[in-house]
This record gives sequence, C-alpha cells and structure tokens, in this order.
Amino acid sequence: MKHQLKLFTAGPVACFPEVLQVMSSQMFSHRSPEYQELHSETVELLKEFLETKQTVLLVPSSGTGLMEASIRNAVSPNGKVLVTVIGEFGERYAKVVESNGRTAIRLKFDLGDPVNEEKLKEALDKYQDVEAVTITHNETSTGVLNDLPRLAQIVHKYGKLCFVDAVSSCGGTEIKFDEWKIDFLFTSSQKALGIPPGLAFCAVSDKVLEVAEKIPNRGYYFDLLLYVKEQKERKSTPTTPPIPQIMGLNVMLKKIKSMGKENWFHIYKRRAEKIRKGVLDMGLRLLAKPGYESPTITCVLTPEGVGPKIYEKMRDRGFELAAGYGELKNRSFRIGHMGYILDEDIDAMLNTLESVLRELNVI
Ligand SMILES: Cc1ncc(COP(=O)(O)O)c(C=O)c1O
Repeated sequence: MKHQLKLFTAGPVACFPEVLQVMSSQMFSHRSPEYQELHSETVELLKEFLETKQTVLLVPSSGTGLMEASIRNAVSPNGKVLVTVIGEFGERYAKVVESNGRTAIRLKFDLGDPVNEEKLKEALDKYQDVEAVTITHNETSTGVLNDLPRLAQIVHKYGKLCFVDAVSSCGGTEIKFDEWKIDFLFTSSQKALGIPPGLAFCAVSDKVLEVAEKIPNRGYYFDLLLYVKEQKERKSTPTTPPIPQIMGLNVMLKKIKSMGKENWFHIYKRRAEKIRKGVLDMGLRLLAKPGYESPTITCVLTPEGVGPKIYEKMRDRGFELAAGYGELKNRSFRIGHMGYILDEDIDAMLNTLESVLRELNVI
C-alpha cells in the first residue's frame, strides 16, 4: 500500500494530526461516564457549529445511513418526495426513496448546474402532494454548491420538509440549520472535517420528530426517536458508537471554535480558489457553473477517455485525486480539497498535474 500518497480525494480524506493522535487513545465503554461526557460535549459543540437549538444526533454509520433515516422516519409509507438531482448523489437519494417503498419525483438539472429556483417553485406548484424535498448541498460528483439558504426558504414557504445531504459541504462551508429552516441535515466524518470514516451525524428539526411519531415501521437501527430517547436518558447511542471518530470530531470542533468558524471556512475558500486558478491557468475547463463552484471539490473536464489516465498517472506520482464519477467518468477528473492539506502540497500537486497533462498532450 502506498501510504505516502498525498490525498486530494473525495473522501476519505487526510486527517488532521491531532485527530490521529486522539484516536489512538485506549477505549472505554459507551455506557461509562467518560463516554457520556464526550457524547454530550460533542453534541453541544455540533449544535453550535451547525447553528441549531434543535436536536443533533451522533450515529454509527456512513452518510447514506442517515439519507435512509430521513425517509424512513419522516415520509409516510406511500409518501412522495421531490428529489432535486444535480449529479450522482441526488440520484442516490432518489434510489434510497424508492428502495424504501416511497415515490421519488426527480427534478433534474444539467451536469454542472445548481438547482434552479424557478424550476423548484414550478415543481412544487405541480406536485402539491409531496411531503419532503431533498437537496444535495454540495454535489460531489460535479463540484457544484447549491444556494442552500434560498432553496430551503422556498421549500419552507411551500410547507414541505427540507432534507439536506451535507456530506461534502459540512465543515467546508457555513450551515445555519435553524435560520435556514432546514428539517433534516446529515453528513459523515470522512469529508471536510478531516476525520476517518465510520461516524455520521445529523441535525433534526422538532417538526421531523413530531412527524416521526406517526410513521410506522421506522426500522430499528435508524429510528431517530430511539436515538433521541437514548441521548436523553443515557447520554449515549442505542448501539455501539465509533468512539475514536467521536473523539476526533470533538477535537476538530474545538479546533474550529478556537480559531473562529469564519477563519476556518476561509481556509477552504482560499484552497478552492488556488486550485481552480491553477487548473484554469493550465487551460483546462471546470464543470461547475461560475458562481456555484464547490469549496470542497473541483471537477475538471478533459477530452473523452483522458480523465482516468490523468487519475492513474497522478497516483503513480504520489497524488491521489478523485476519478470522474458516473456519467462523467471518462471525461473528467476531480480534485478534492478537504481535510488535512498544506499549501505546499497544493503547489506540488499542481506542478505534477501540469507535467502529466503535457505528457498526455492535453496542454
Ligand atoms: C454528496 C454525497 N452524498 C452522499 C454520500 C455518501 O456518503 P457515505 O459514503 O458517507 O455514505 C457522498 C459520498 O461521497 C457524497 O459525496
């Protein structure tokens, strides 16, 4: 295994040294006072980070588990969901809706585009019986950041529940759960917070918890009400949580708090700008519509068949980028900018990319 690869991946990403350090601590029981303190403190830090006074839950899962939880807990068994699709992860949400026996109405946009507000309103006028709307905050397959506050406001005005996949945005850009009137927002640890995989967490509105009371067959593993009960009564989770990842999250949230959230997000913004500029200066084109470029991942277009070659050659030279995804597999590659990345790593990656592009006669 090439452990020395520099990661510019879509996740798992390189972890911060302080995270790796705390994660090597000895274990303790998830029913012990030590765990209860860690759990409660981390939940409070997350509430502050996500700007919510409502419920935050820690869940042993990857992000997709909580995607499923939103449907199982807050959409009636034969209910309809309007799924906005701007790439592969929007499509995944639609599949999760359908595989749980609900109906997904897809509202699709061209690759590289965000959700269009007028089209969203039209769809909500047309499909008045949908119970919820799903939004991918940051579409990892295309490198597009949706204008979440505006979209969530529309969903709220129409009186629908707003479910947000924040897997590749949370930690990389601001989220104001209460102010933006979101109902369910989830993410996983292995992305912009720079923690190993295995932990998911979500913010849940009071409204979702009320709806969940009336939904039969919520399942056991992702029953949000069971999580709420365990958190209240035992300051823990119903099943064994990934304690090392929670310790890592705790450390990262304290680090971000001490440096100031704005300063933290500024690092993401600067990294993304530097990488985009480097790529554009080489004469390549980006997929994302200008103004909607992701702060956490950049999708770069290439001639047909070249994207995978760039990915392979970069790997051979010590840099793991992210391959193109889904429909774009053969004509793009992606550069993730999440987790522990130093400025000098970005310079080295861009220099190597330039020489790879020359070798392949792309520039
Ligand atoms: C936007 C988005 N949603 C969902 C997922 C799935 O997350 P997980 O692999 O943690 O289940 C990913 C993973 O890359 C993602 O980028």
